[in-house]
Amino acid sequence: PRKEKFILIGRRLYKGFWLPEPYALGILAFQRRFTPRPDDVVLTSYPKCGTTWLKTLVFAAMARDAYPPAAADHPLRRLNPHACIPFMEDIFTKRQEAKLDGLPSPRLVHTHTPYALLPETVTTGDGCKVVYICRDPKDMVVSMYHYLRRLQPDLSLAGTFHSVLDGTVLYGPMWDHVLGYWHASIARPDRVLFLKYEDLLRNTGEHVRKLAEFMGRPFSGAEEAAGTVESVVELCSFDKMKNLDVNKTGTIERKYHSIAHDAFFRKGVTGDWVNHMSPEMASRLDEIFRDKLRGTGLTA
Ligand code: A3P
Repeated sequence: PRKEKFILIGRRLYKGFWLPEPYALGILAFQRRFTPRPDDVVLTSYPKCGTTWLKTLVFAAMARDAYPPAAADHPLRRLNPHACIPFMEDIFTKRQEAKLDGLPSPRLVHTHTPYALLPETVTTGDGCKVVYICRDPKDMVVSMYHYLRRLQPDLSLAGTFHSVLDGTVLYGPMWDHVLGYWHASIARPDRVLFLKYEDLLRNTGEHVRKLAEFMGRPFSGAEEAAGTVESVVELCSFDKMKNLDVNKTGTIERKYHSIAHDAFFRKGVTGDWVNHMSPEMASRLDEIFRDKLRGTGLTA
């Protein structure tokens, strides 16, 4: 495939990662100024790997006393998931940290910041909990292509593919991003939970239980009997989320761009790469990930 320049967002190389230029200072401010509370949960992800879904599952599980998942007026039926959990890059770029102070505990926040660049207060000691989600890089490329094309209509799949391969796209290289969290999850298993989109899709209920337990809020016998886990899964399912009025219309206003809510709900499956990528592209990507992950215990 022909190499094309990826021009959508300027980027800045910082400590081995290509940070999106508009957020570079925000990420540094987050790193230096964020003070976690012990019961905070920091959701983290490589872009287009299931962030939106993780946000809904964690929000629904953690807020289940105040908002039973089956309730018709549940916040996730009225608000886009990104409105329920703040994005640190945007908060710190807009200098809106005060908003975080006003959030009740346990706070849920999200960032795409690589593990090595997280605030030290998060990565050391008893800090707080971190949940990471990643995905088959081939599906990530296809998802990212469709997402970015909405912002840059002339972008091609080949262009997206090459910027992932050379590591320069959004918070890349992806393999280093993933490995940072993978190693952290091995070193600090009580603090860092590492998830894969494919596993979540295969058995969502089991992962909702795992998440709740990890966050210190396991489902009780009474909740199990009442089918609360299944209600969380149902509330957050792709079809339900995609078809909500709030997710079919409206936009998220970030400091430097706005993006339609429906951009976060495309297909919601695994393996869609076969419909977009040539076998050569797929094996090239598999090869590079195999090489980078060799000996780490992680497979892409
Ligand atoms: P596809 O483009 O492959 O459909 P992110 O939230 O990190 O931006 O990732 C977006 C990807 O997650 C998109 O993948 C999107 O469709 C998928 N997604 C969003 N909500 C989901 C849900 N509730 N269940 C499963 N997948 C979901």
